[in-house]
Amino acid sequence: MRHWTFYLKYLLVGLLLNCSISHAQTMDSDRVGRGFEVIYNRNLGNCVTCHRIDKPDSNRGPTLEKQGNFGPDLSKVGSRYNQAQLTQWVSDARKIQPQTFMPPYGSLEDITLPNQANTLLTQEQIALVVEALLTLK
Ligand code: HEC
Repeated sequence: MRHWTFYLKYLLVGLLLNCSISHAQTMDSDRVGRGFEVIYNRNLGNCVTCHRIDKPDSNRGPTLEKQGNFGPDLSKVGSRYNQAQLTQWVSDARKIQPQTFMPPYGSLEDITLPNQANTLLTQEQIALVVEALLTLK
């Protein structure tokens, strides 16, 4: 039987690993949460004005009756598209569907509004939105 201090190093390594794993998880879920904030926020993405997201584990957004049905239902969109495709949809859907009414959140190309100096969302906000969309499966 070894002295108890022999096992101490394994305990410490285990604790450290456990902490870093749960830290990574909270960071990821934090980004996903921030992505949904952008999606729901009326002054940011406001995506649910046109789309419906049936996501039972989030009660931050408007109730389903108050969500839109102008665009496709996004409840399972993470199983239809990968990260690159979703980034293209959100950044500039016109590159996929030239006649679309969906706003190009990450592009000012061909935007002639006089006071539109910045894209609707930043690259970072778009990345967060895409991370959130990828969880919708
Ligand atoms: C003004 C309404 C409108 C808003 C606001 C809007 N979309 Fe869309 N979106 C559409 C429409 C309409 C389509 C279908 C493409 C088409 O044929 O025009 C679409 C398509 C999509 C698709 C592809 C879905 C599929 O199943 O093919 C994704 C993903 C998407 N939108 C995400 C978003 C996100 C994320 C936001 C917010 C950042 C958003 N949309 C905001 C109207 C909108």
